[in-house]
Amino acid sequence: MTSSYGFQGRAAVVTGATRGIGRAVAAQLAAAGALVCVTARDGDDVRRTAEELGGIGLAGGVADPDHPARVTELVLREFGRFDVLVNNAATNQPYGPLMDADPDLWRTAFTVNVEAPLRLVQQAWRGWMCEHGGSVVNVCTEGAEHVGPHVGAYGTSKAALLHLTRQLAGELAPKVRVNSVSPGLVRTEMARFVWEPAETVIAAGLPLGRIGEPEDVARAVLWLASDAAEWVTGADLLVDGGTRVRPAHAAPVGRGEPGDRPRTPRG
Ligand SMILES: NC(=O)c1ccc[n+]([C@@H]2O[C@H](COP(=O)([O-])OP(=O)(O)OC[C@H]3O[C@@H](n4cnc5c(N)ncnc54)[C@H](OP(=O)(O)O)[C@@H]3O)[C@@H](O)[C@H]2O)c1
Repeated sequence: MTSSYGFQGRAAVVTGATRGIGRAVAAQLAAAGALVCVTARDGDDVRRTAEELGGIGLAGGVADPDHPARVTELVLREFGRFDVLVNNAATNQPYGPLMDADPDLWRTAFTVNVEAPLRLVQQAWRGWMCEHGGSVVNVCTEGAEHVGPHVGAYGTSKAALLHLTRQLAGELAPKVRVNSVSPGLVRTEMARFVWEPAETVIAAGLPLGRIGEPEDVARAVLWLASDAAEWVTGADLLVDGGTRVRPAHAAPVGRGEPGDRPRTPRG
């Protein structure tokens, strides 16, 4: 099906692509014929993933000041073009009520989840997309619509990313389309503290009867990034197993308790 998506020979950057949703996106893009560049902080993981997918990689945090310029220079040098940008890397720190939020961690949430995607779009626009066009997909979250007791900074930053998506869609049309996906609970490391202790209960409360897999979200990202969505911009696509339409009495999703946090949280 993705052969009709028009990715053959196009160059794509996926941030945070060594595991979880980002890796699934990069793998599906590579399988659809795209030239793929993956990024993440762990250099060994980046090298391994790039090799496995037959692409290239850049180690570094998306919020590193020189990261957007470095990744843009790399793809233009190696691939000669920069057609697709998937802003997937994110942090879910600080965890806990906002009244106790550490100011540095709060700033980090916005730097990683909002500012870095913007700076990457700016570089992609200046380096390639302004002249040749392109497509951007930002990975938000279904949870940005809700008030969560422990993920206020994450949710607030993702709500900002949602609006950034619409703002950029307006600014960059018609050359560049900018859309987002909002996943529900997906089986990844970032969300392990939510799904691992209660998967059966959570799945039973979802209309589609299971939590998400990274590939579920990746398929939606690919569609939005592709020519098949050529008349779609500024849209947010929910990929949540029906979280929003579950009966009101069903178990809530994504409400982890503080004690459920992994000992060494990532992101
Ligand atoms: N899983 C869910 O239930 C869920 C639900 C809604 C939305 N999302 C969103 O989906 C996206 C992907 O999350 P995931 O669940 O797939 O996470 P994950 O499995 O923990 O993977 C995160 C990836 O991003 C990289 N990464 C983390 N921080 C980074 C940074 N500052 N700079 C560059 N790379 C970074 C990680 O590698 P390194 O650690 O080596 O950097 C890894 O490759 C995020 O935007 C998240 O907010 C997830």
